[in-house]
Amino acid sequence: MLTVPEFAKRKKNQEKISMITCYDSSFARILAESPIDVLLVGDSSSMVMQGEDSTIQATPESIAFFTRSVARGSGGRKFLVADMPFLSTRKGLRHAVNCAETLLKAGAHSIKIEGVRGNEKLIHHLVESGIPVMAHLGLTPQFVNAFGGMKVQAKTPNEQERLLEESRMAERCGAFALVLECVPSGIANRITRELSIPTIGIGAGPGTDGQVLVLQDMLGFNPEFRPKFLRTYLDGKSLILDAFASFHEDVKTLQFPTEQESYPQ
Ligand code: KIV
Repeated sequence: MLTVPEFAKRKKNQEKISMITCYDSSFARILAESPIDVLLVGDSSSMVMQGEDSTIQATPESIAFFTRSVARGSGGRKFLVADMPFLSTRKGLRHAVNCAETLLKAGAHSIKIEGVRGNEKLIHHLVESGIPVMAHLGLTPQFVNAFGGMKVQAKTPNEQERLLEESRMAERCGAFALVLECVPSGIANRITRELSIPTIGIGAGPGTDGQVLVLQDMLGFNPEFRPKFLRTYLDGKSLILDAFASFHEDVKTLQFPTEQESYPQ
């Protein structure tokens, strides 16, 4: 299992980091047998698993529920990151620490926080308390309303300077890694060069120290969702529909179950 000190070593040795979201124990069991480095219990669980239209609806309880399932499935074989959900970092230090504690006790090895500005003291405090923090900048989906939609961020030189400064701030506060979501490759590369902690990109081009994708998206479960940055590695929806249709057909035509699939008297 990858450990926190090994993230920096990976960067130093130019070994890329792979991260995939995971919200349940069945997929965690499969991922535990894969070479994937990191499992992220993201707040995208509110959309992917709970059918909500944004990540705003995720709660400490829902993230803890999914984290516990993933921790059981992966059985200590993968490094787990759990998201601090919407506003959990903005209701005072005690609230945030309690939330992080809940997530670590559910099985996470670290937490991820969207936005660094305004969270500096908290990140520092968590890190000093033994709770590793992964920062997340760029298109931070919890800010969807402030951004006016899910849009590529940091397009202008001023916005890029601000992003670079906030990335440096993440490192200064003690974050061990930084997710960069939907930002132009040029600024992602510059941040990656300037920081000693690894960057993990999603829609941030090939130059970051690692890449992350949402499991259901990369497996093609939702082919209607096709952002530019997404590569699908399986035609999941068609394969699953074929399996359901085959089962349905076998039931209708009495081909399932056979005697071999039944218990004798
Ligand atoms: O919740 C999530 O899935 C994420 C990734 C997109 C980085 O935060």
